[in-house]
Amino acid sequence: MRAVLLGPPGAGKGTQAQILASELSIPKVSTGDIFRANVSGGTELGLQAKEYMDRGDLVPDEITNAMVRDRLVQEDALQGFLLDGFPRNVSQAQVLNKILVELDEELDAVVELKVDEEEVVTRLSGRRSCRSCGYAHHTLYDPPTVAGVCDQCSGELFQREDDKEETIRHRMEVYREQTAPLVSFYADEGLLVTITATGTVEEVTARALAAMGRSS
Ligand code: AP5
Ligand code: ZN
Repeated sequence: MRAVLLGPPGAGKGTQAQILASELSIPKVSTGDIFRANVSGGTELGLQAKEYMDRGDLVPDEITNAMVRDRLVQEDALQGFLLDGFPRNVSQAQVLNKILVELDEELDAVVELKVDEEEVVTRLSGRRSCRSCGYAHHTLYDPPTVAGVCDQCSGELFQREDDKEETIRHRMEVYREQTAPLVSFYADEGLLVTITATGTVEEVTARALAAMGRSS
């Protein structure tokens, strides 16, 4: 299975990618997670990406495309992958198509997670991410048992720099202008399946699996 999760910030891509990748036994490739790991590791890539991420802007295509290419040609991704957060504009989608041609592979599905803007702001302003395992708790929807401590791994929870309301609104704008055109791009390629991303996490997972032609 080679699939893309598409959707605005806070749609639940990261939450679903984690579960779906494990259900489907394929690696999850999340550009946001890779960038954040590089920022905390203080690497050159992290230094380049940080200022864009903190503002809620896209990291330049040259940097992002090279990073994704390197990841998709690794051994574990050759049997399939689930992309979370990439592609994010038409030019990245064209680069992905080129990488797939080189590998003699094709995408199987692009699953669009649909959720309205007010829900996104509520989800992101309440998100508390784990520094160790990346799990996303939510102050209302999925509060940790002990405040500030991840239920999954006991790691420390923190609020992402880009999860402040003003930056969330800017990320939504970037999504509308640069990423939303991918909906018609992939509809034209006959790959797009749109699902409602509200309801419980389990309900959304079941819809996503059905969209990919798998049952839960
Ligand atoms: P990235 O990390 O990809 O951020 P994003 O797309 O804005 O997505 P989020 O991680 O904010 O949200 P999500 O959809 O994963 O939601 P989640 O599952 O956490 O990118 C960050 C930055 O990196 C970008 O701004 C950019 O600078 C850079 N970047 C990344 N990729 C790039 C690219 N390709 N090109 C250029 N730059 C790139 O859920 C959100 C919250 O909701 C959580 O608290 C969760 O607990 C809760 N939740 C989830 N599902 C439900 C549910 N069903 N009901 C109730 N609550 C729920
Ligand atoms: Zn954790």
